[in-house]
Amino acid sequence: MRLTQLQIKNFRNLESAKLTPVQGVNLITGDNASGKTSLLEAIYYLSHIRSFRTRYTTDLIQRETPYLQLVANIETVEQQIIPLGIRRSRNKSEVRVNKEPVKRVSDIAAQFPVLAIHPDSYKLITGSPSQRRQYLDWGVFHVEHGFFQSWQRFKKALLQRNAALKSKQKFDICQLWNKEICNTADYIDQLRSQYFLKLSPYFKQLTDIFFLNDKVTIEYKRGWPIDKSLVELLELNIQKERMKGFTYYGPHRAEITIKVNGQSAQTCISRGQQKTLVALMRLAQAMQFTEATNKPCVLLYDDLAAELDANHRKLILTELSKMNIQLFLTAIENEQIDLSAWHEKKMFHVEHGVLTVKE
Ligand SMILES: Nc1ncnc2c1ncn2[C@@H]1O[C@H](COP(=O)(O)OP(=O)(O)OP(=O)(O)O)[C@@H](O)[C@H]1O
Ligand SMILES: [Mg+2]
Repeated sequence: MRLTQLQIKNFRNLESAKLTPVQGVNLITGDNASGKTSLLEAIYYLSHIRSFRTRYTTDLIQRETPYLQLVANIETVEQQIIPLGIRRSRNKSEVRVNKEPVKRVSDIAAQFPVLAIHPDSYKLITGSPSQRRQYLDWGVFHVEHGFFQSWQRFKKALLQRNAALKSKQKFDICQLWNKEICNTADYIDQLRSQYFLKLSPYFKQLTDIFFLNDKVTIEYKRGWPIDKSLVELLELNIQKERMKGFTYYGPHRAEITIKVNGQSAQTCISRGQQKTLVALMRLAQAMQFTEATNKPCVLLYDDLAAELDANHRKLILTELSKMNIQLFLTAIENEQIDLSAWHEKKMFHVEHGVLTVKE
């Protein structure tokens, strides 16, 4: 999967830009506030229908314009071209895949797997467990089929159970959804743990290179104790849950914990180490994806030079150059990024929202 063309209209400060990237590495340089992150954000938006820096999609629409538009071509490994299109106004969103309108984000996401590393990415470690579940589920969704449907079914059943708990319905009413919850929960856990098992060796291989003198461990926790069945727990805790108004245990409480020398990465390592770890988590994910599916994914790396010291930057660039992915990097100046390890490369420059190709 690779992006072969992207036309951007009214996306943040990018009024009109056309990008024709290569399969290898694409470096976008430019001064502060020129539009580098916005360009990566547009690619990310095309895959996720949301941004990595704001919850409010309307922030993305260029000020004083009615809508943003992204029109792209994706090329599959079989060299088939898939046109994608998004038009977002302040109250309406239209998404097209293969010129047909699609309703669900998953329809576009499945066509165009994109991962991003950006200055706020360290929050994957310091932020809430839901972010780490999202991290895990990106891979499960793209690699393990059947996940999306089960997750939708689980979410629906959980919502109904929680609503019953909150409104203090009778016990037997609250328990009506237990069976659906347990069936889907076990399947979700099975897919997540299978994926996690496949992902872990890639992560270990990378942390062994970057954390020479430290022991980094990563662990998946399914959201209910390992020695108990969820059916039992749902039955057992109903009284407490009815008081609180929500379901205690289940895959909605799953978590990934990362430790460095036995201590939580959330609180016991430096910000720079957190940034490195997050980059490695994403790299591991991109590697596993590419090898498991035989399809290259797209990786966006915003501000790599500002994020890491010279040694870590060099190590990351070496790892990136070995991967079969389409890469988009941003930097203020191109001297900050050594692209000599890549055969296929293209350089772009952005100035006040105007994108040009650098020779
Ligand atoms: N909706 C919008 N409409 C117009 N301009 C916007 C909008 N949202 C953000 N901008 C502007 O777009 C410009 C580019 O921002 P962007 O974050 O892409 O810059 P950058 O090149 O990544 O800069 P830096 O090097 O500081 O990270 C900023 O000046 C910002 O104020
Ligand atoms: Mg930026």
